[in-house]
Amino acid sequence: MQTHEIRERFTHHFVKAGHEAVPSASLILDDPNLLFVNAGMVPFKPYFLGQQTPPFPNGTATSIQKCVRTLDIEEVGITTRHNTFFQMAGNFSFGQYFKEGAITHAWSLLTSPIDEGGYGFDPEKIWVTVYLDDDEAANIWENVVGIPAERIQRLGMADNFWSMGIPGPCGPSSEIYYDRGPEYGNEGGPAADDSRYLEIWNLVFMEKERGAGTGKDNFEILGPLPKKNIDTGMGVERIACLLQGVDNVYETDLLRPVIDEAQRLTGATYGANHEDDIRFRVIADHSRTAMMIILDGVTPGNEGRGYILRRLLRRIIRSARLLGATGKTMESFMNTIMDTMTPSYPEIADNRERIQRVAITEETAFLKTLESGTELFETTAAKIKQEGKTTVAGADAFALHDTYGFPIDLTLEMAAEAGLQVDTEGFDKLMAEQRARAKADSQAKKHGHTDLSIYRDWVDNHPTEFIGYDELTAQSHVIGLLSDGKKVSEVSAGHDVEVILDASTFYAEAGGQIGDRGTMTLGDSLLRVNDVQKIGKKLWVHRATVETGGFALGDTVTAAVDPAWRHAARQAHSATHLIHAALREVLGPTAVQAGSMNKPGYLRFDFNYTEQLTPEQLEHIELITNQAVDADWQVNTIETTLDEAKTMGAMALFGENYGNIVRVVEIGGPFSMELCGGTHVAHSSQIGPVSILGESSIGSGARRIEAYSGLDSFKYLSKERTLVAGLASALKAPSAEVPDRIAQLTTKLKEAEKTIENLRKAELLAQGSRLVARAHLPNGITVASAVLPDGTTAGDLRTLAADVKNHLAGEAGVVLLASSTSDGKVPFVVAATKEAIARGANAGTIVKTLNPYIDGRGGGKPDMAQGSGSNPDGLPEGLKAASDHIATL
Ligand code: SER
Repeated sequence: MQTHEIRERFTHHFVKAGHEAVPSASLILDDPNLLFVNAGMVPFKPYFLGQQTPPFPNGTATSIQKCVRTLDIEEVGITTRHNTFFQMAGNFSFGQYFKEGAITHAWSLLTSPIDEGGYGFDPEKIWVTVYLDDDEAANIWENVVGIPAERIQRLGMADNFWSMGIPGPCGPSSEIYYDRGPEYGNEGGPAADDSRYLEIWNLVFMEKERGAGTGKDNFEILGPLPKKNIDTGMGVERIACLLQGVDNVYETDLLRPVIDEAQRLTGATYGANHEDDIRFRVIADHSRTAMMIILDGVTPGNEGRGYILRRLLRRIIRSARLLGATGKTMESFMNTIMDTMTPSYPEIADNRERIQRVAITEETAFLKTLESGTELFETTAAKIKQEGKTTVAGADAFALHDTYGFPIDLTLEMAAEAGLQVDTEGFDKLMAEQRARAKADSQAKKHGHTDLSIYRDWVDNHPTEFIGYDELTAQSHVIGLLSDGKKVSEVSAGHDVEVILDASTFYAEAGGQIGDRGTMTLGDSLLRVNDVQKIGKKLWVHRATVETGGFALGDTVTAAVDPAWRHAARQAHSATHLIHAALREVLGPTAVQAGSMNKPGYLRFDFNYTEQLTPEQLEHIELITNQAVDADWQVNTIETTLDEAKTMGAMALFGENYGNIVRVVEIGGPFSMELCGGTHVAHSSQIGPVSILGESSIGSGARRIEAYSGLDSFKYLSKERTLVAGLASALKAPSAEVPDRIAQLTTKLKEAEKTIENLRKAELLAQGSRLVARAHLPNGITVASAVLPDGTTAGDLRTLAADVKNHLAGEAGVVLLASSTSDGKVPFVVAATKEAIARGANAGTIVKTLNPYIDGRGGGKPDMAQGSGSNPDGLPEGLKAASDHIATL
């Protein structure tokens, strides 16, 4: 049975039982704790926690969620059941059916015959586990379903109690396993061997809420959830593996074609040896994961999701290389995996070109890295051999890895080829040190984000009402005060505090727009709001400084957003939407938004695009943006369901939850329609002028446009104009001619510099020749020597020496010239005429007699030699020694 059909049967089974079929959410949800969606229940979290009412008529839903787990990336291919990308099929009940419903639904789908829509598994081969004291679940398995007691095993918290690993819903679980037979391992059920007994489905009885803690079994249970819920997850890939009768997930219908393609490209054979098999599986697994996360908007980078993508792509390239590929492979792998995945994910079809571009750009860059790393390796290896050693130092291997991204196994492989060893212990030690540093960094970063428990009561029971789309000033009640991270009942002048109100007119930072600034007052007391952040999407925390007087819990304050701030913030945010729309008009729909930031007067917009924009494209984007301003379109905001918004053609970034009511901001009808909670102008003309500052790369595959809006845009243009006017006046030319004039001036300047240089040389020759002293030695050889003043370069010495030598033509003459420079260097030149050479003079030998006196180095041919010394004091003696040597010829 093909994977696509396994998916369809699952959905059909649960829709028939009244579940609403919900499409998979994007892999990237707006949760700082989660790099990627890693379970089917993630998008439903607010319903489990009782924060939102599930929008499903029967209170039940089913989905097949795209999931990525990269924690075990090193395990891929070594064990045969790890996929970094997988599809989790699930059914969910929000306060409706509980254990019995979940168990019987799963059982009937697994064991119903194929021609009745099921998967047709042999009931005799199925084993289950339940949580230690979960008699209720064990009882249902035994007495309602009829599984013999010996195939029901009880396991502890680490195995049969599920949570997201972070605070959130959790509960005991029951896992369903399939016995693959004795050739896969020992008997004794899943408690004994989870390779022979393959886990296929996890039923979680979600009824508790977990607090902070670590690992699978070391956390606090905060209490029961408002309702008893069901969350199940069936591994689509594992079912495919069993139903297709293949050995492991990498050989199922969606991944096997990539292995075949890898065989074709590398010439290696799958199944020939374990080492190579791991590489084939890495290629298949990672190609799919990389493709799916690029599809959802990730580009390679050095942090977070971008880094994971980079790692995946590099591991593919490296594995292909180790299998014997010599050229590029990425395009073929991506094409193959896109072909197999498109039937289940039709949106791939519209994104093929973009996916290829992102993947191939990274491949090109990494192959270059490999090349430069290889060069460095060869130099290092040569040096080691020259020194008579046989081991590449740990520090060298680490430098290759750290600076050139050169993986250690390539270093090992190349070292082996060169007959060298590698100090892997030293390397490991440096790596461990680096990891420890990175861990400390990320913990420090995370702490600031995630220790939010102090706000929990307000988030749950007193979320802030936002009333600031229309009003800037309101009377609000102070329901919370914090100082130094602790709850307090009053605050006084001079302190930095956090204020929580029942309702706020302040916009809290979200969707790229930074938080409003303004004041809160009560009588003579005043505090200034410096920032507003949202906690748990529901609570507005105003970070502020008390300037005069004091405030207490229960006060009614006048909370007022600074109108000038908000005015300019609106302009900047609306301008961001216009630039986004203009950009897509000019570059096409593949320029996907990757992020944005806007604050009064300024905005930046990041997008995925691999080429630098031309000046013409930028000009065009700016023009379209300002035309949209000029069109004076009304800006409309519409509240509707996510589905409706998508039908309208609204552009959604990642992370909207299914079923949410969303806000669509529309400017100029289809021109710009985006899901957005930000504050906007009422008419596009209120944005004022928008000027693009420039465009730049922010890491591979992503670029950034920066712009000014409103009065700041005007000020920027005005400053530029003043600058040009200043240039025009300095050049005494109309401003339109400034560029030409500067070009002319540059040319003239270059010519003038050349003339000066020629004059200097002529002067030098004239002066230099005057300085040369000629001595006729008793043996008939003439020595012409001089020490030239500071500023005379080695090049000058050569010119002068040639000139003096010309003057000596026809006689046996030797020229000795040096200069004593202020930086302590002593450049020198020795030249000998033909006749002198005939007498046995040799400029190269003469240099050698001079060198010891001036700590010099250098040499050359019989007619001309040169060098440089570092001891000017030795010059007179050195020249004399040279002269004495010539006298002996
Ligand atoms: N949340 C559970 C899991 O991820 C079941 O869906 O395994």
